[in-house]
Formats: sequence, structure tokens, C-alpha cells
Amino acid sequence: MALGLLLAVGCSSGEGAAEAAGGVPVVEKGRLTTCTHLPYPPFQFERDGAIVGFDVSLIDLVAKRLKVEQKIVDTPFENFKTGAFLNSGECDLAAAGMTITADRKKNVDFSVPYFDATQALLATRKSGVGSLADIRAGKRKLGAQAGTTGESYAKEQGFDPVAFESSDAVLSGLRTGQVDAVVIDYPVVRGWLKDKRNSAAFTVGQHIETGEQYGVSVKKGNEELLAAIDGAIKEARADGTYQKLYEEWIGPLPQSAP
Ligand code: ARG
Repeated sequence: MALGLLLAVGCSSGEGAAEAAGGVPVVEKGRLTTCTHLPYPPFQFERDGAIVGFDVSLIDLVAKRLKVEQKIVDTPFENFKTGAFLNSGECDLAAAGMTITADRKKNVDFSVPYFDATQALLATRKSGVGSLADIRAGKRKLGAQAGTTGESYAKEQGFDPVAFESSDAVLSGLRTGQVDAVVIDYPVVRGWLKDKRNSAAFTVGQHIETGEQYGVSVKKGNEELLAAIDGAIKEARADGTYQKLYEEWIGPLPQSAP
């Protein structure tokens, strides 16, 4: 009897029994819990004590549909490949400027794409590095964020990049001269270079057209939540909200934006 009660309590407080509007299951009552990896401006970062950004605003639209509030949890980046935090019920979804890849698809399900991205080689001006070929020729030091598509790309090209835990660590690796250049998502570079301190010290050496697309991930088989995410993204594109958010956080919307 007592055990039965405990189980019932355990269930309603976080074992998947909670539901949001439309019967969509959520891990915590009244919340849509997002796992991310901070900071990743302009997609998710802290500003005046709040976590804001393009992804945050996009997932707010999903939360609104489900009549719940978004709650954001900062988690290690490797989680995004394994989906561990989704399987354990720590989060409902992951939104982290994360590229949809075949490898990640083995462990998680992805929404429709919501952002087109490429990679860039960001180099310190004083290194004189303009391309990956320069790195190879001059035996310069290359870096990337651990577990990202930028790191995979560098490895595929035969480099052994220094792995940094976060985008902040990537930036300080460049600042301190630990590395001469990094391969990282171009939208992030664009954001960084708006800051004079960064544009005085760093420059884009090479654009790398990897043709990546970002997606939101959910636990495998969570079709109800996936449908709500896809619905919110499609609606935002159709009613102009997507463009508004893009202009707010990224810049002018390219004609081909997905
Ligand atoms: N788009 C890249 C990837 O999926 C980098 C994402 C990094 N995101 C983050 N929140 N730190 O691997």
C-alpha cells in the first residue's frame, strides 16, 4: 500500500506521467525542460542573468503551444550525441545549435531542420593563418570544441585539433595563443566578430561549406513532442515569427534559409 503510493507519487513528479497541453508527455509538470550547453551565442547564452538566444526563443514557442514554461539545464556536450539526459528523463529535448548528423540520429530523434550553418576557420591575426593548408604547412596549432561537427571536420582533414570543452574555452584558447586557429560554426564566429575586441584580434581565414542543419533532439520515439516542435517551427516560418527571431538574434534572413 505504502509502496504503491510512493510509486504513484514518484510517477507524477517526474517519471513521464506529467503531461502538457495536447497530452504531450513532459518530465516535469508545467515545464518544458531543455538541455543545452552554454554558452553558444547567439543561440543560447547568459545575458543580465537570464539565458537567452535564438534557440531559447524558438523553444519558447514550443512551450507556449504546450502551455508550459521552458526551463533550461546546462549539460556536458557529449550528452547530445548519446541522448543520455533524454533517456534518463532529465530533459524533454535538447537545443544547442546542434547539427543533425547520421551518427547522432542513431541515439536521438531530430525535429525538422531549423537553421542552416557552415563552419569557418577563425584565426588569430598575428598567426597570419588564412587556411587549413597554412596550418598544415606551417605546423600551426588548430583547435575545436570537443564533440562538435567542427572537430569532426578537422579530424577528417587529418588534423589533431586541441579539444576545448566549450565555446568560451575555444575563445580563450585563441586569446592566450594556445592555438592559432579554430574550426567552429560560422554563425557563432559572426557573433563574436561583432565585438571589436574580437575583430581586432581574430579574422576568418576560410569558410567551410559543410552544409549543416541544426535540429532539436528528443528521446527516440517521442513522437508527440516531436510533432509539437515541428509544428511550432513550421508555424513560426509561416507567420513571420521565424524571420523576426532570425533578424533579432542572427541578422538578415538569407533567401535560402530553411
Ligand atoms: N553545430 C555544432 C555541432 O552540432 C556545434 C554545436 C555546439 N553547441 C553548443 N551549445 N556548444 O556539433
